[in-house]
Amino acid sequence: MRDVVVIGVGMTKFGELWAKSLRDMFVESALKAIQNSGVDHIDSMYVGTISGGLFVGQEHLGAVLADYLGVNPIPASRVESACASGGVAFRQAFLEIASGQSDIVLAGGVEKMTDGADVTEVLATAADQEYEIYHGITFPGLYAMIAQAHMHQFKTTHRQLAAVSVKNHKNGSKNPNAQFRSEITIDKVLNSTLVADPLRLLDCSPVSDGAACVVLCSMELAKKLSKNSIKVIASAQASDTIALHSRESLTTLKSVTIAAEKAYKQAKIKPSNVNFAEVHDCFSIAEIVVSEDLGFFDKGSGGAAVEKGLTSIDGGKIPINTSGGLKSKGHPVGATGIAQIIELYEQLTGQAGERQVKNAHIGLAQNMGGSGASCVIHILEAV
Ligand code: COA
Repeated sequence: MRDVVVIGVGMTKFGELWAKSLRDMFVESALKAIQNSGVDHIDSMYVGTISGGLFVGQEHLGAVLADYLGVNPIPASRVESACASGGVAFRQAFLEIASGQSDIVLAGGVEKMTDGADVTEVLATAADQEYEIYHGITFPGLYAMIAQAHMHQFKTTHRQLAAVSVKNHKNGSKNPNAQFRSEITIDKVLNSTLVADPLRLLDCSPVSDGAACVVLCSMELAKKLSKNSIKVIASAQASDTIALHSRESLTTLKSVTIAAEKAYKQAKIKPSNVNFAEVHDCFSIAEIVVSEDLGFFDKGSGGAAVEKGLTSIDGGKIPINTSGGLKSKGHPVGATGIAQIIELYEQLTGQAGERQVKNAHIGLAQNMGGSGASCVIHILEAV
C-alpha cells in the first residue's frame, strides 16, 4: 500500500442555499479543491450523497457531476452509506490511490435538502423500513431512545446534552462556512421546542444544503508538488444492525468501537495520542456516546466530560468538533464526512484561524450512517 495524502480542499458555505442547485454546489467546491491542490487533472472521482433522487429527483450523480465539472471521461462514482456517504467516498479515493490504481483522486460529498422534499421521510429511508419506520419512528426518535437509555444507565443529564450544543455553536461562530454562527446558552437549549423527548430543537443538527471536496494523491506526487498536505494514517469502516432494537446495548455503538479499534491499530496509536476530533453529532447525545466509544472517555462519563470543558478548544483534553460539528456548521448529509476531513486539513496545516487547536499533530474524523449501522473513521497526521 502506498502512502496517501490530502493536498487540497474546498467547500461551499453550509446552510439554506436557495440560489444554488446540487450541481452548482458540487462544482463550486470541486473547483476550489482542485485549485487549492495545484494539480492540473484528476484521475477519478467519488461523490457521497444520500439521495439526489428523493431530494431533487436526480440520480446517476457520478456521471452528472463529472459532466458538469468538465472532467469526462474519467471514472466517476456515486457512493451511498446514509450520513456516512462522504466518509465512505473519501475511503474509496484513499484505497484507489493506496492500491496504485490512480495517483490523484477527488473525493466529494453533496446534498440539496431544502428544495421541498419531506426531509424527515427521505432521511428515514436510511433506517429499517419494516421494523422501525413502518411503526412511525424517525431519526430524532431513535436518537432520543439512545439518550433515554444513556440518561437512565449513567445519570447523564439534560444540561450535559445541552453543553454539547453550546460548545459546538461557540466553535461554529468562528467558522465562516457554518450554517449557524450564533452562540447559544444552556438555558436556550433547555427551553427550545421539544422534538423527541429528551431531544429539543437545539439538540438537533439542522437541515442543510452544501458540498465539500478534497483532492488526495500519493505521497510521492505531493512531494514533487511541494504543497501543504496531511497524511492518511488510518482508514477503517464497520457495520452494525440496521435496527436499534437488535443491538445488545443502546448506549454503545458497535460500528464505532470496531472501526476505532481497527483505525488505532493501523495508525499505531492510542486514543490519548489524538489531539482533536471531528465526530458525528447529528444529535447532542451522539457526540457523547461516540466520544466514549472512540476511547476518549470511559463509558458513561462523556456527558460529564463535555460539561467540565474537556472537549473544548481552550484547554480541553481532546477538543471535539472544532468546526462547529453537524450541529452548528450544518449537516448536508452526503457532504458531512468530507467537511470533517476539511476541518482536519485546516487544523493540521495551521489554517484554522480562531478555531486553531494548539500543537495539532494528529486528528480523527468519525462519520456514521443512520443510528450507527455504518461508521467510517479516518486518522490523519500533519506532514
Ligand atoms: N438548530 C438550530 N436552529 C434550527 C434547527 C437546528 N437544528 N433547525 C431549525 N432551526 C431554526 C430555523 O432556522 C428556524 O429559525 P427562524 O424561525 O429564525 O428562521 C426555526 O429554527 C424553525 O425552523 P424549522 O425549519 O421550522 O424547524 P423544523 O421544526 O422544521 O425542523 C428539526 C427542526 C430539528 C426537526 C430539523 O432540523 C431536523 O429534522 N433535524 C434533524 C436532521 C436529521 O435527522 N439529520 C440526520 C441525522 S441521522
